[in-house]
Amino acid sequence: MAPVMSKLLSGLLLTSIAAAQDFGSGGRNDDDFSYVQPLNTTILTQYGSSPAVLPSPNITGVGGWEDAMAKAKAFVALLTLEEKKDMVTGTSGPCVGNIIAIPRVGFPGLCLQDGPLSIRVADYASVFEAGVTAASTWDRDLLYERGYALGEEFKAKGAHIFLGPVAGPLGRSAYSGRNWEGFAADPYLTGIAMQETIKGVQDAGVQATAKHYIGNEQETQRNPTFLTNGTTGEVDQEAVSANMDDRTFHELYLWPFANAAHVNCASFMCSYQRLNGSYACQNSKALNGVLKTELGFQGYVMSDWGGTHAGVAAIESGLDMDMPGGIGAYGMNWAAGSFFGGNITQGVNNGTIDISRVDDMILRIMTPYYFLGQDKDFPTVDPSGADLNTFSPRSTWIHEFNLTGESSRDVRGNHGEMIRRHGAEATILLKNVNNALPLKAPKSIAVFGNDAGDDTQGYLNQVDFEYGTLSAGGGSGTGRLTYLITPLDAVKTRAAKDNALVQYWLNNTLITSSEVSDLWIPKTPEVCLVFLKTWAEEGADRAHLEVDWDGNEVVESVTKYCNNTVVVTHSSGINVLPFADNPNVTAILAAHYPGQESGNSIVDVLYGDVNPSGRLPYTIALNGTDYNAPPTTAVNTTGIDDWQSWFDEKLEVDYRYFDAHNISVRYEFGYGLSYTTFEMTDLSSEALATDITSEPEDLPILPGGNPALWETLYNVTLTVTNTGDVDGATVPQLYVSFPEDTTPSGTPPRQLRGFSKAFLAPGESQKVGFELMRRDISYWDIISQQWLIPAGDITLSAGFSSRDLKLVSKITPVAA
Ligand SMILES: *[C@@H]1O[C@H](CO)[C@@H](O)[C@H](O)[C@H]1NC(C)=O
Ligand SMILES: *[C@@H]1O[C@H](CO)[C@@H](O)[C@H](O)[C@H]1NC(C)=O
Ligand SMILES: *[C@@H]1O[C@H](CO)[C@@H](O)[C@H](O)[C@H]1NC(C)=O
Ligand SMILES: *[C@@H]1O[C@H](CO)[C@@H](O)[C@H](O)[C@H]1NC(C)=O
Ligand SMILES: *[C@@H]1O[C@H](CO)[C@@H](O)[C@H](O)[C@H]1NC(C)=O
Ligand SMILES: *[C@@H]1O[C@H](CO)[C@@H](O)[C@H](O)[C@H]1NC(C)=O
Ligand SMILES: *[C@@H]1O[C@H](CO)[C@@H](O)[C@H](O)[C@H]1NC(C)=O
Ligand SMILES: *[C@@H]1O[C@H](CO)[C@@H](O)[C@H](O)[C@H]1NC(C)=O
Ligand SMILES: *[C@@H]1O[C@H](CO)[C@@H](O)[C@H](O)[C@H]1NC(C)=O
Ligand SMILES: *[C@@H]1O[C@H](CO)[C@@H](O)[C@H](O)[C@H]1NC(C)=O
Ligand SMILES: *[C@@H]1O[C@H](CO)[C@@H](O)[C@H](O)[C@H]1NC(C)=O
Ligand SMILES: *[C@@H]1O[C@H](CO)[C@@H](O)[C@H](O)[C@H]1NC(C)=O
Repeated sequence: MAPVMSKLLSGLLLTSIAAAQDFGSGGRNDDDFSYVQPLNTTILTQYGSSPAVLPSPNITGVGGWEDAMAKAKAFVALLTLEEKKDMVTGTSGPCVGNIIAIPRVGFPGLCLQDGPLSIRVADYASVFEAGVTAASTWDRDLLYERGYALGEEFKAKGAHIFLGPVAGPLGRSAYSGRNWEGFAADPYLTGIAMQETIKGVQDAGVQATAKHYIGNEQETQRNPTFLTNGTTGEVDQEAVSANMDDRTFHELYLWPFANAAHVNCASFMCSYQRLNGSYACQNSKALNGVLKTELGFQGYVMSDWGGTHAGVAAIESGLDMDMPGGIGAYGMNWAAGSFFGGNITQGVNNGTIDISRVDDMILRIMTPYYFLGQDKDFPTVDPSGADLNTFSPRSTWIHEFNLTGESSRDVRGNHGEMIRRHGAEATILLKNVNNALPLKAPKSIAVFGNDAGDDTQGYLNQVDFEYGTLSAGGGSGTGRLTYLITPLDAVKTRAAKDNALVQYWLNNTLITSSEVSDLWIPKTPEVCLVFLKTWAEEGADRAHLEVDWDGNEVVESVTKYCNNTVVVTHSSGINVLPFADNPNVTAILAAHYPGQESGNSIVDVLYGDVNPSGRLPYTIALNGTDYNAPPTTAVNTTGIDDWQSWFDEKLEVDYRYFDAHNISVRYEFGYGLSYTTFEMTDLSSEALATDITSEPEDLPILPGGNPALWETLYNVTLTVTNTGDVDGATVPQLYVSFPEDTTPSGTPPRQLRGFSKAFLAPGESQKVGFELMRRDISYWDIISQQWLIPAGDITLSAGFSSRDLKLVSKITPVAA
């Protein structure tokens, strides 16, 4: 320990000591938390079984990148030390993140752009549906298609790197402000969504970035606060520390990131907050130990913007690229230099940093570049982006950028049609009584709510305005709309086909303060459509789980007089829905953030042109207070390290918690209705391997970890049939229950381990398969540091949601 410590302390930094305080549990024999209290050197030295993981592993190119790595090696050999430091240090420029060109060796630089649902700093680009929306489709092909289309737009705008997708936050807390950027409060569904998105983006020739690694489950205090105003200087309080045990780390939060590594994701972005006491961007256990060793990750780790808090310590802990290169988290101070930059030159020259480590950083950056063919005919950065970039406007540029090529390129193609289809497929029908939906050519329609119409308060990026439908959330994950089809526009257009009367009231204050019956003429409309919204944004957690702008009261006002009220929500995620029991609310649809075609998507579902098939990617509880794991929103003490968030609910997040405690919920994880009906029959499983052992074979590590974990051991099949009279899609789901006596306590009763979307005509049947990999039927054993298949019977439950389970069977991979 001592040499490590002194090496780290000889580094730059502010928090260099934290790098030595990594978690880990080699040799541990209990399931207590494996974090250490920050800055408690007594514990630090006692914690001999969990050393910092050094040195940072070299890239080997294993898993298909060998040829690209050879090209990257030849490139690195051409560089001077000055150029090397520029390759790993961002700077102000036309993109949100910039690595400067090296014209001497024909390298055009790298352009990094937000974000998960659109190329944000751009004109004439599409705004796609948000992550939570895409996940609600439970449709692998759609997730891939979305990723590919995003990749096409990034490439056409000259952006080499897509800053997404998001698996952190995973959704530990219902309140987290960025859950909508990610996918689902479940590692399996999020893992599939990560993998399909990354494959899509990279097949289009753009590097994907799995973010935010790891434990970024709240926004509050995600960065340190400082004694002086601004974002640099002496720290008042460090960022919150996400403190979790090793099993929770592996089974929940790491799981989807393993999928990302498995499909050769080019880069990982380390998160702002601390993990078990150590900043995520200098946590050597998480970066060197888990990501680069256990998961065999061959790409590079970039910091979140301003998430670097150290030079030498971060570099040794596994951070490969400092973004955006200035110092400070918000309001970047470009003049303050960088923890990397000139400090790398100095550190190499004075012997603190080994040049081979710097070379490895660049190899990791350039290997995916060559692998994806970005050295060949990659479009130039669209000059219009530079003018739209408020993060590093031209006045901040330190380097020269030659912006050539057509400006304001329209890269949208026909993606609008796709986004419309995605938005409809993602819409979740939660309630539908009295045959309310689909609408049957109503002649009189009333539309209510400030989410129905246009954003009259201006601005192309979504902001939390009173008026205007929400198609995306806020922060770096938003999109710059080129147009927006509102629900009201689309209802009017569709209703015109029936020569219907469409009346509308968009002022929630007016609706809640008036007798709604006074508003309509001449008599009660056949259907009342109420559009409600809920805002969420980066940098802030949600204060409540209700719809915004007195939405519940709007529903109450309307339902007093309208016994056919259909409620649509455009929300970041979880809303408790107190009006769900109101008999006059005949239908509820959760549409989340659908992107630019929002109105068309919802009208397609309302009128039955698309049969809804979305499924909840989280649980809707009866009461907001029913959720566990709230964010840590305050500490009462002023100590520098006092922001601690204890993940002591362990695996009991979302349905895993509600199921473990038999808590009634309003709509469970995986739930969603259709305009038709389905049945499932014939659950059976076929073993695809013989002599299955509890421990995986110890194979050489490939990206994603031990390849034995990704081996399909069983094919579980069932037959699903459309028993109704219209076309429709459903999502059979497979949940796995481990034997109680051979798995550690705290194992959730059921965990999602398979799903398959089936599109079926009336009367049609389809056999669907769930391919169970070794990891799917294993738990993480903290003692052997392995994924183990428990001995005994594993129960497989198949159904249409996590609680609507229709068929049960057992497999016994390893005899008890
Ligand atoms: C550090 O940890 C040791 C061992 O658990 C404990 O006795 C001591 O009180 C802790 N010190 C501080 C400052 O928390
Ligand atoms: C990485 O490779 C270099 C040679 O290029 C070698 O000197 C160094 O020891 C290697 N580092 C590790 C961690 O294996
Ligand atoms: C810090 O900012 C606050 C709010 O803007 C201001 O009231 C205060 O005077 C500032 N303090 C210093 C030391 O600049
Ligand atoms: C080196 O890092 C320090 C922060 O530790 C920073 O203040 C300084 O400006 C950096 N030097 C350069 C040349 O970027
Ligand atoms: C070497 O350079 C690094 C990086 O700037 C610096 O932190 C460290 O203090 C220097 N060490 C010596 C012995 O000069
Ligand atoms: C910009 O273009 C000029 C003229 O072609 C060239 O000399 C210079 O190296 C270029 N700079 C960059 C950063 O590409
Ligand atoms: C909304 O209605 C309230 C109550 O009638 C009124 O005070 C307010 O001015 C209206 N807002 C707009 C933007 O018209
Ligand atoms: C439902 O609507 C009818 C009018 O059709 C009204 O009389 C009744 O009070 C409403 N019920 C509720 C619970 O608002
Ligand atoms: C709903 O209201 C309509 C018109 O007000 C009325 O004709 C109809 O009977 C009501 N239906 C129910 C189920 O109350
Ligand atoms: C939700 O639970 C809290 C605390 O138990 C309670 O005060 C509140 O009334 C409940 N709300 C509803 C709508 O049941
Ligand atoms: C802070 O103190 C208040 C009042 O004593 C208490 O209600 C609250 O739970 C405390 N919060 C934390 C995070 O300890
Ligand atoms: C699993 O079963 C499905 C449905 O019959 C089939 O399409 C798929 O190819 C099977 N997978 C394997 C690995 O056998």
